[in-house]
Amino acid sequence: MDKQGLQVAIDGPASAGKSTVAKIVAQRFHYIYCDTGAMYRAITWKVLQAGVALDDEAAVKDLLDQITIRFEPGTPVQKVFVDDTEVTLAIRQPDVTNAVSQISAQSAVRAELTERQRQIADAGGIVMDGRDVGSTVLPKAEVKIFLVASVEERAQRRLKDNAAKGINTPLETLKYEIEERDRKDSTRKISPLTQAADAIRLDTTSMSIQEVADRIAEIIQEKESL
Ligand code: DC
Repeated sequence: MDKQGLQVAIDGPASAGKSTVAKIVAQRFHYIYCDTGAMYRAITWKVLQAGVALDDEAAVKDLLDQITIRFEPGTPVQKVFVDDTEVTLAIRQPDVTNAVSQISAQSAVRAELTERQRQIADAGGIVMDGRDVGSTVLPKAEVKIFLVASVEERAQRRLKDNAAKGINTPLETLKYEIEERDRKDSTRKISPLTQAADAIRLDTTSMSIQEVADRIAEIIQEKESL
């Protein structure tokens, strides 16, 4: 592999700050940023649009085989497209958020998206965030970070993020949704949320985004200089 930079995997539960930190780190090192959660959300959005039953695994996989999921640079957020339709905001709406665990638990969906994610990461110079990047997608990633934070803190962060996007879900609902997704993501049979044995665990509850990004940047620099 002729690599242009390191593979950096950032995993952790919902709203642990992965994507915010991953974007900052990717920018700092001029790496590509890939949000694997957005890919699971994109196929979930398509399934809902097409009116396919969430538990019809064959039909869901068929649909996935027919679509492309692309990222384009954008400010303040990277844009996500399913074929030619921009779904950046649509994939963050509650209907998708509540259905995504059911889609991301399906083995055929995981196998296909894992393959697409490996292709994106193949040349290196990538920061990829998700639930199973360090453990399954990129087991040889040079840098593996596992971010955690308390449920209360994560709900507060999501509340702020949502407000900026014009989405107004109450704090108690957000807490409930986060706990439910933690439970589903951690207990599913295939590729559950797990910390890779060689991942560095960072509890970000009382750290600022900048502190977390700085710490990860230090870790990358240490590896780059090896
Ligand atoms: O990070 P997020 O909330 O956007 O992720 C959406 C969902 O996708 C989440 O419930 C778990 C799932 N997911 C996954 O199963 N594997 C990944 N690598 C990334 C996300």
